[in-house]
Amino acid sequence: MCGIIGIIGKDDVAERLVDGLKRLEYRGYDSAGVATVHGGAIDRRRAEGKLNNLVKELAGSPLPGTTGIAHTRWATHGAPTTSNAHPHATGEVALVHNGIIENFKPLRDELIARGRTFDSQTDTEVVAHLVSELVEQGASPKDAVRQVLPRLHGAFALAILFRSHPDMLIGARLGSPLVVGYGDGETYLGSDALALAPLTQRIAYLEEGDWVVITAQGAEIFDKDNNPVERPVTISGVSGAMIDKGNHRHFMQKEIYEQPVVVAQTLKAYLQRMDDRVSLPIPDFDLSAIRRVTIVACGTSFYAGMVARYWFEQFARVPVDLDFASEFRYREPVMEEGGLALFISQSGETADTLAALRYARSQGQKIAVVVNVPTSSMAREADLLLPTHAGPEIGVASTKAFTCQLAVLAAFAANLARAKGRLTPAEEKEIVRHLAEAPAAINGALAYDEAIEAMAHHIVPARDVLYLGRGTDYPIALEGALKLKEISYIHAEGYAAGEMKHGPIALIDELVPVICIAPSGPLFEKTVSNMQEVQARGGKVVLISDYDGVQAAGEGCLATITMPKVHPLIAPMVYAVPVQLLAYHVAVLKGTDVDQPRNLAKSVTVE
Ligand code: G6P
Repeated sequence: MCGIIGIIGKDDVAERLVDGLKRLEYRGYDSAGVATVHGGAIDRRRAEGKLNNLVKELAGSPLPGTTGIAHTRWATHGAPTTSNAHPHATGEVALVHNGIIENFKPLRDELIARGRTFDSQTDTEVVAHLVSELVEQGASPKDAVRQVLPRLHGAFALAILFRSHPDMLIGARLGSPLVVGYGDGETYLGSDALALAPLTQRIAYLEEGDWVVITAQGAEIFDKDNNPVERPVTISGVSGAMIDKGNHRHFMQKEIYEQPVVVAQTLKAYLQRMDDRVSLPIPDFDLSAIRRVTIVACGTSFYAGMVARYWFEQFARVPVDLDFASEFRYREPVMEEGGLALFISQSGETADTLAALRYARSQGQKIAVVVNVPTSSMAREADLLLPTHAGPEIGVASTKAFTCQLAVLAAFAANLARAKGRLTPAEEKEIVRHLAEAPAAINGALAYDEAIEAMAHHIVPARDVLYLGRGTDYPIALEGALKLKEISYIHAEGYAAGEMKHGPIALIDELVPVICIAPSGPLFEKTVSNMQEVQARGGKVVLISDYDGVQAAGEGCLATITMPKVHPLIAPMVYAVPVQLLAYHVAVLKGTDVDQPRNLAKSVTVE
């Protein structure tokens, strides 16, 4: 998955294309490139690695031209080299692509058999050749694209530039997002409204199978059957200002510190403090008939769903299925009428989650979506949109989106419980009271930042780290391990504390730190027993608990981290903070790229 942008401008576009790429880097940063038409020819600049390399390349060798396309890549087919960087071009055509052309192999063989030669190992280059072939044979750009699109299987968003028609671009969308932006005598294509934010706020979202011809005057949109269609123009409201790090060294650190504010902001939309009730953005959405909830997500969002499963079952007594989106789709799950399918996603664009959503819709489910980007595909396809108000999350490792997801999910579980007649007003009041305490408690957790930083050096030399937790602390253990892996490249695994003795305990020696997440409460003693089993075998334990927990079980630990004492309902939000901070400080000590870790991307729009 990748980010794409195209501009038909009044002036030279290369600089503005690169500015758009800066906003799209969350989609990948393996290589970047830009192409324009000038002097009757297609010209391009491409560079391996981060966008800065392309900026340097352009500084040494500027690229004129008022029509152009650009791309930031997350490699799928072919290593992240310059020759695999987009745009891919022939003499006649240059194009950028987000997604995967699944049948590229037979298409490539066919093209080679016809004498075409390839410069890259990508799946994308076949599309450039297919379109170019037809254009070389005299087809108009429009006819060429119309003929080629049905030949492509998989997922794509494309922006195509033509040497002989420098006044137009053609875009297409199937499975990967693409928007059209309308400017003043200029027209744009982009992976999202954010990319186009400084250029225009007037955005039309293409639908599945749509393709579009843009000129300076506007856009002609066609649906998958090539019928001309109108897509509504909306005002995106996305700010054009580049988000900065403020006083923080990294976006991730800034986002960790924003959590008290953004969780409060999010809760405000779901709690009615005046009458101690939880509420939904669509107050009359009927939850009373929901018999089963299916939660589907990927990555950190999946772990938020895992926490929510406990809440839905405990409060609402509704059975819950939970699955990774990438697995859910392929096991052809049985979904009974009357079910609610709940999708959790920061970006709202994760390809597997989006495909799972569409599967659930085809199975007659009501669709609820917890999403942070309100203009995303998932937000637009939901029956019940449950926004998180975390604001833009730039660090690739998700932090504030996660705690905001937890806030929404807790409130939603309480709404469901009330609708099912499982919650008395007094119980609802208690839940509201505890949730309202979360921002201050998260703030309290942040106060231990220095202590966490000071003990991070214990983790830096480790090759492997284990995280243990029980109940809702188990998903936090998984999330802690994921954070550490993602940004410090140390191998880490999260385990249900009670499962240790069924295998993972064999890994324990003095070189494998074990992080135990164990707030005092009903499950504390059981987790501590598991922790002691580790210590008895020479394992080095870092205990994350509250004052009482540390007093009771801190002895003999390698280190302890003391959290504020909180109600179990908000413990996952609070205990997320030390595991985020620990991963952050370990990564900083190791000198890795915290905000853009190797091989990852913020938004994964390929399956
Ligand atoms: C990527 C990101 C993760 C994120 C996951 C799911 O892998 O690097 O941080 O948790 O995608 O993304 P979503 O936008 O659907 O929450």
